Amino acid sequence: MSQKIFVFDTTLRDGEQVPGCQLNIEEKLMIARELDLLGVDIIEAGFPISSPGDFKAVEAISKVVQNATVCGLTRAVKKDIEVAAEALKPAKRSRIHTGIGSSDIHIQHKFNSNRDEILQRGVDAVKYARQFTDDVEFYAEDAGRSDIEFLARLTEAVIKAGATVVNLPDTTGYLLPNQTFERISYLVNNVPNVDKAILSMHNHNDLGMATANTIAGIQAGARQVEVTINGIGERAGNTSLEEVVMTLKVHKDLGLYTDIKTEKLAPLSHLVSKTMRMPVQANKAIVGRNAFAHSSGIHQDGFLKHSLNYEIMTPQEVGVDKSDIVLTARSGRHAIKHRMELLGFNATKEKLDEIYEEFLLLADKIKEVNDKDLVGLVRPMLEEVEQ
Ligand code: KIV
Ligand code: ZN
Repeated sequence: MSQKIFVFDTTLRDGEQVPGCQLNIEEKLMIARELDLLGVDIIEAGFPISSPGDFKAVEAISKVVQNATVCGLTRAVKKDIEVAAEALKPAKRSRIHTGIGSSDIHIQHKFNSNRDEILQRGVDAVKYARQFTDDVEFYAEDAGRSDIEFLARLTEAVIKAGATVVNLPDTTGYLLPNQTFERISYLVNNVPNVDKAILSMHNHNDLGMATANTIAGIQAGARQVEVTINGIGERAGNTSLEEVVMTLKVHKDLGLYTDIKTEKLAPLSHLVSKTMRMPVQANKAIVGRNAFAHSSGIHQDGFLKHSLNYEIMTPQEVGVDKSDIVLTARSGRHAIKHRMELLGFNATKEKLDEIYEEFLLLADKIKEVNDKDLVGLVRPMLEEVEQ
């Protein structure tokens, strides 16, 4: 039987930390409503102690979200937890996300501390957060570079203290997919009370492996993914929601599913890009402008014979109207003929050859030939025939 993967969206927290992407409350509310409609399970709405504006935003989002759990981030600090609990009060379902650095690098260079003290601070934070809500997620920051035996000890201790979810972030985007798989497998097999909590993947994209690492983690047994729309986030970004969700949809063989309404992905990607003033690269998987655009002659010919030849999902599944055939000097006759027919022009084989020769000259000059350019080229050539 297929198993559910919980989708934890952090566009409004980790995504919004990006310089230049800050949103006002109205913008955050608009995106939160859309995330709720998209079907995410948890919305991380902000870091309430960080500023009065973020507190107000988390509070306002808590009031409007209907289905998702609303989550607020804290450090393993009492005051942070109290402020987050206050901001989350109006939520139908709330989660406090608390935690502390767990790698020796963080323990020494951020906290000037030691493993035992850090473990105790994590446990105390979870216990304190549980006084405000029964849904507490613990993050072991920089878990990707943490000593695995210590990470297992910490995971066991925070679950015992009441954590319902344990987040194992690859904060610096350091890991390889096979390492992620091995590390999560280690926790699944060596933490005695692991079945009492959900393990969560939170991967950054510094080496371009966030999605691959997230998938590797859930293949090893994690059941929550922490993601952002368009993969927006610190430095090279977070794991992209649309990539993980569509990977699970396309690879039904993994036996995992999400509740995301995938036909809403592209519209929400555009909204986030516009509101956060962060353009999406044209070749971005799933939501980039070229994700369903075919431009070489061989691909266009194969696609026109059957879309399955070159597409592993339909554009409609992710909310894009249709695939695109881009006419350039790399296009072949099949694509030109197809576009001419869509525009109402038919030509004999000989005439099509002539048109194609002229088309290549034009395409070399102007690079992309749009419908208006094609009509301008084809109409006079076909009118010659009719005279
Ligand atoms: O990347 C990270 O470690 C984080 C934590 C605060 C969850 O964003
Ligand atoms: Zn992060």
